[in-house]
Amino acid sequence: LTDITALLLSRIRDVEDYPEPGVVFKDITPLLADPAAFTALTDALAELTVRHGATKIVGLEARGFILGAPAALRAGVGFVPVRKAGKLPGATLRQAYDLEYGSAEIEVHAEDLSAGDRVMVIDDVLATGGTAEASLALVRRAGAEVAGVAVLMELGFLGGRARLEPALDGAPLEALLQV
Ligand code: PRP
Ligand code: HPA
Repeated sequence: LTDITALLLSRIRDVEDYPEPGVVFKDITPLLADPAAFTALTDALAELTVRHGATKIVGLEARGFILGAPAALRAGVGFVPVRKAGKLPGATLRQAYDLEYGSAEIEVHAEDLSAGDRVMVIDDVLATGGTAEASLALVRRAGAEVAGVAVLMELGFLGGRARLEPALDGAPLEALLQV
């Protein structure tokens, strides 16, 4: 893996006071708009997917779709969307998780994952880790194995890695950038 961290970092924009005062939002749209950076990111996520022996990528709505789908094609594995509750038409598994205030639910089509699958969960940002933690629960409830979690960016000060550790159960958490 070549060192692409400087390229990726240079294409992430800090937006102050979004979505609320005091928060510095990491905006990846400049990275997506730059084909060299987007290609480097896709190749890195695909390489991690292959290295950890995954047979499927699970992408987390919404930015995990943008990063996960091209990585799945590059790695030669299937792509499975995990969506906010109420968006998938078929038979789903649903998992609730806590937010800073309140809670949310995510879903996956039960038939998209099965016992033979090893899953790499992909998203743009690991913040508190709640979304990734719930997605790992869905993967296991569907009967599949967890190959790991790969994110573009880990917001270290929010403690997501520690929260996720029990759910990882020894599987790797790969973050291309630490913020
Ligand atoms: C963001 C981000 C991750 C999640 C990380 O998505 O893309 O999926 O939050 O937060 P956590 O680690 O604290 O769970 P968001 O919920 O804003 O959804 P969106 O991409 O659909 O806007
Ligand atoms: N950027 C993108 N997604 C996020 C962030 C952020 O800074 N924090 C929590 N989810």
